[in-house]
Amino acid sequence: TRVLVIGEGQNSEHDVSLASAAAVAAALRLGDHEVVCATIGRDGVWRSDALPTAGSAAESLQQALGLLATVDVVFPAVHGVLGEDGALAALCALAGVRVVGSGLRAGAIGMDKWTTKLVAQAVGIGTARGRLVGAADLGDAEFDEPVVVKPVSAGSSHGVSLVSAEGELLGALREAARFDRRILVEEVVRGREVDVAVIRERGGVRWAAPPLEIHAPGLFDTATKYDGSARFTVPAQLDPAQTSALQRAAVAVFDALGCDGVARMDFFLTERGPVLNEVNTMPGMTAASQVPRMFAAAGVPYVDLVTRLVRAAS
Ligand code: DAL
Ligand code: MG
Repeated sequence: TRVLVIGEGQNSEHDVSLASAAAVAAALRLGDHEVVCATIGRDGVWRSDALPTAGSAAESLQQALGLLATVDVVFPAVHGVLGEDGALAALCALAGVRVVGSGLRAGAIGMDKWTTKLVAQAVGIGTARGRLVGAADLGDAEFDEPVVVKPVSAGSSHGVSLVSAEGELLGALREAARFDRRILVEEVVRGREVDVAVIRERGGVRWAAPPLEIHAPGLFDTATKYDGSARFTVPAQLDPAQTSALQRAAVAVFDALGCDGVARMDFFLTERGPVLNEVNTMPGMTAASQVPRMFAAAGVPYVDLVTRLVRAAS
C-alpha cells in the first residue's frame, strides 16, 4: 500500500504534528508500506520530495492534488485547525482518496470544544459547566474564580489559562482570543486526569483501549505536555467499574460524533463519574504519546496500530 503521510500544518500545533507524522511514517515503513511524506508549512505551502518546488500555497495545493491521485491512502497526521478539524479529510474525500481517521463531520465537531460539550451532554456524559464568550465581549465578562479559559478550537493546551484570582481574567481571555474568536470559560473540575482511546477497525468494530492516567506537576498544560515532566500510568489503576464507566463514555462520544480511525477522549474522573474534557480526532501519535501507549497496553504495538488504521481508512 502506498501511503501519503502529511505533517506540520498551519496552526500552533505545527511542531507536534511534525513529530507525529515522522513517527507514523517510520512505523509504516517498518510495516512494509511504501511511504511518501509531505508537509504543509505555516505559509500553507505543501512540500515533499515527490513535489516540485512551488511558489505559493495555491500552486502547491494543485500539485499536491496530483500527488494524492498516486497514493492508496492518506494519513493526515496534522493536529488542530485545517487538519484534525476535517479539512484534510474533506480534501481527500473530494479527491476520491481513502483517508485515515475521522471525516469532516466528526473532525469539525471534535475540534470545537463547545459543540463537543453539547453533544456529550445530549448523550448523558458529564462535562464541565461552561459559557461562551465572544472576542468582542471580553471586557464585559464576569466570572467567579477559579475558572479555566480556553479557545474553543485549539490543541496542545495552547491559549489555555487557569484563572484563580480576580484581575487575571481579562489577560486570560485575551490570550485565548489569539487562537479563536470564540472562547470557552469553564468551571474547574477536580479529579484524576484519565484518557481513553477508541479505535474503529476495518469492518466497523470499535473498541476502547485501557485508560491511561496522567500525573503532571500541576496543570497538564503545553509545557508539561512536551517537556517530559508528565508521567503516565497505563493501564490506569482503577477499579473495574471506573474503567468500564470511562470506556463506555468514550465509546458513546466516539459514536455520537461519528468518529473513524482512532480518537482520544480526555476525562477527569470525579466523584460524580467521568467528566469529558475534550476529544482529539487526530491525537498525538509519537511512540511516547498517550494513544500508542494505550494500544501497546492492549497488546497492539505501534506498527500494528498504524497498520490497522491504514487498513480501516475509508
Ligand atoms: N492535540 C495533541 C496533539 C494531542 O491530542 O495529543
Ligand atoms: Mg486536543
